[in-house]
Amino acid sequence: MIVKICKTKEEVGQTAAALCNAQIIKNPQSVLGLATGSSVLTTYQAMVKAYNDGITDYSQIVTYNLDEYCGLESTHPQSYCYFMEENLFKHINIKPENTNLPDGKAIDFSKESQRYEDSINSAGGIDLLLLGIGRNAHIAFNEPNTKLLDNTHRIELAKSTVQANARFFESEKDVPKASITMGIGTIMRSRTIVMVVSGSDKAEALAAMKNGLITPQCPASFLQLHNNVTVIVDEAAASQKAKSKPIC
Ligand code: GLP
Repeated sequence: MIVKICKTKEEVGQTAAALCNAQIIKNPQSVLGLATGSSVLTTYQAMVKAYNDGITDYSQIVTYNLDEYCGLESTHPQSYCYFMEENLFKHINIKPENTNLPDGKAIDFSKESQRYEDSINSAGGIDLLLLGIGRNAHIAFNEPNTKLLDNTHRIELAKSTVQANARFFESEKDVPKASITMGIGTIMRSRTIVMVVSGSDKAEALAAMKNGLITPQCPASFLQLHNNVTVIVDEAAASQKAKSKPIC
C-alpha cells in the first residue's frame, strides 16, 4: 500500500485525478470503478478540468459505480446516479450507455447483484477503482460485520453510516436503510485501487485500515492484501497515530 500525504483536499483530488487520467491515456478503453461522497468531489473536479483541457477522452471509457441506495429513484438528488451525473458524467464525453450503477429500485436484488457482477466480468473487470472510506472504515457499503460478502449484494446500512450520511438528507429518517454494493471481492479483483481520504473525521478509519488487524470489523483493512493500492490523504486525515484495536 502506497500512502501519499497532501496538504489539502484539493491537492488530494489533483493527485488522484492524475492517476485516473494516466490510466485513461494509457488505455482509452479502460474500465473505471467510481465512488461517490464528498471526498471524491475534488478528484472529479480535476478530472473534468483535464477533459476540458483536451488531456483525456472518455468516448470509449466504461464505468461501474461502487454502490447505490435502495429505494431511491435515479432522479432523486441524493441518489448516487444523480450524484455521478451532476459531478462527472454531464461534464465529459462519456456515452450514457457506458456508465453503470447497480439498480437501487430493483425488484429482485439478488438477480440485480448477479447481473451487475456479470456485467463487470464481461467488460473484462475493473482496471482502476476509485474509492473513499467511511468513518467506520467501510468501503463502498461493505459495513463492519462478522463476515464480508465477496460479490455485489444488498446490505443493511450500519446505524453509524445512516447518521454520517444524514448530512445529505433533510433528516436522518430520510436516509435509506439499505443499499446495493459491490462486494469486497469485486473491489479486491480491481487491478489498481486509488483511495482518497480527507478530513480529521477519517483519521481513525485510515489508521485502522493501514495498520490495524485485517478483520471484517474493519472492511478497508482487506486492502492491505491488495498489491496495487495508492491511498492519497490530506494532512487532517493523516493526523492519527496507528491504533492496534479495530475501530468498529
Ligand atoms: C458513502 C459511500 C462510500 C464513501 C463514503 C464516504 O457511504 N458508500 O463509497 O466512501 O460514503 O463518503 P464521504 O467522502 O462523503 O465521507
